[in-house]
Amino acid sequence: AAGMLAEAGRAGLVPAGASFHVGSQQRDPRQWDVAIKQCAAIFDELSTRGVELSLLNIGGGFPASYRQPIDSVDVYGVEIRDAMVRHFGNRSPRIIAEPGRYIAGDAGIIQTEVVLVAEKSREPDKRWIFLDIGKFGGLPETFEEAIQYRITTPHDGSPGGPVVLAGPTCDEVDVLYAAAGYTLPLDLTAGDRIEIHSAGAYTATYSAVGFNGFPPLSEYYI
Ligand SMILES: Cc1ncc(COP(=O)(O)O)c(C=O)c1O
Repeated sequence: AAGMLAEAGRAGLVPAGASFHVGSQQRDPRQWDVAIKQCAAIFDELSTRGVELSLLNIGGGFPASYRQPIDSVDVYGVEIRDAMVRHFGNRSPRIIAEPGRYIAGDAGIIQTEVVLVAEKSREPDKRWIFLDIGKFGGLPETFEEAIQYRITTPHDGSPGGPVVLAGPTCDEVDVLYAAAGYTLPLDLTAGDRIEIHSAGAYTATYSAVGFNGFPPLSEYYI
């Protein structure tokens, strides 16, 4: 990166600074320290070549509230501020950020309907709950069960049991959660409406336009 920025300067452009992204839904605020340290080294090297950079883009990655616990955004702010002081001292560049998931994620809810509750002979204790939305209808971030949404049902509080959650498309990969340890009320039946929380980011925009005949996810803004 330093070589490219120096080359840009030689070509008559004005190199502004550096940009990074520590990975979406980043649950470790210390990751910013790693990237800020690398960027400070680039700024230093450019300075020795006579180019003074002035802008640091610390990207996105700030987390939304899914099933796993996260620190508040204040904790991230303190970590980032401390890392800036540690690596840039009193010559801090202007900082910009590009939060996506943190802003949009918790603002959205997906309402979905149970279309089938099934039991499979090889796992009689684990019900399969098929929803009218799945990986192709806006939940592709459940691939490898990476993003684990909070789910509420009309029967919350009543006895529950382990489930596999699946989408409606009949595609073999359209299984949302099989290993993540979800439990849902035993009373859940076809026709029940359940809510998938913090679903405002990377859902509707990922929805297929008509895979296997299913319409894309409808969006309503309040
Ligand atoms: C360049 C860039 N900035 C910001 C974001 C937003 O990231 P996040 O939603 O993890 O905050 C993305 C997401 O893909 C990105 O590619």
